[in-house]
Amino acid sequence: MIEIRRVTKQYQTQSGKVTVLRNVNLSVQEGEMVAIMGRSGSGKSTLLNIIAGITSPTSGQVSVCGKILDYTKSGELCRLRRNLIGYIVQSYALIGNRTAWENVILPVRSREYRAHGYQKVRELLDELEMTDKVRRFPNQLSNGEKQRVAIARALVDNKKMILADEPTGAMDQKSAENTVNLLRRLAEEKGITILIVTHDMEVAKKCDRIVTLSYGEIV
Ligand SMILES: Nc1ncnc2c1ncn2[C@@H]1O[C@H](COP(=O)(O)OP(=O)(O)OP(=O)(O)O)[C@@H](O)[C@H]1O
Ligand SMILES: [Mg+2]
Repeated sequence: MIEIRRVTKQYQTQSGKVTVLRNVNLSVQEGEMVAIMGRSGSGKSTLLNIIAGITSPTSGQVSVCGKILDYTKSGELCRLRRNLIGYIVQSYALIGNRTAWENVILPVRSREYRAHGYQKVRELLDELEMTDKVRRFPNQLSNGEKQRVAIARALVDNKKMILADEPTGAMDQKSAENTVNLLRRLAEEKGITILIVTHDMEVAKKCDRIVTLSYGEIV
């Protein structure tokens, strides 16, 4: 499902080049749920951005769903994201002048999800315990609630893969557990592949496998 081969990422900064990922190899099978752990600055978000086709690696190769990503083709990468990948970014990226509900249904394309007044979307929001907050705007939500909106948005439309960057970082233990259980079930029932960056050992324990990044390398 995801094949990462000898991926290196360097950034140019004021004080010269910094290597953020160094020769990273990683294979993730379909339906697998993998936790990515590591200290702040170890390259976790960078790795997810590369898989999502948002950031290009300096060298190495990435393939997703059997397709080698061509980082020079932004249209192709954009379609890949839209069709296959649900990405829950670390900063939630909600649209401020749209309500929680509008944010969630924004990317919905599939008929299945539009059917019966977005019934499937409602069910998802219900599971995330957000039903009573859907009419609020992001600035009227707590961070944990914003995260749940971002999660719902990433899960609509039957994506093949979910990339989640600290999706439970702002939640209490109960909401975090609830959310991870939901992701776990999606992996099992629908064969969705899930990569989840987390600092929370309780969350990581529910994954099939833990990958730890340290100074840009998998240890
Ligand atoms: N555009 C950029 N230019 C230069 N350096 C960058 C850039 N983006 C990220 N970095 C650096 O790359 C390193 C890895 O960043 P990244 O965001 O992947 O870390 P992370 O593991 O997700 O950290 P956190 O747990 O704090 O979210 C950091 O040291 C960061 O300062
Ligand atoms: Mg990060």
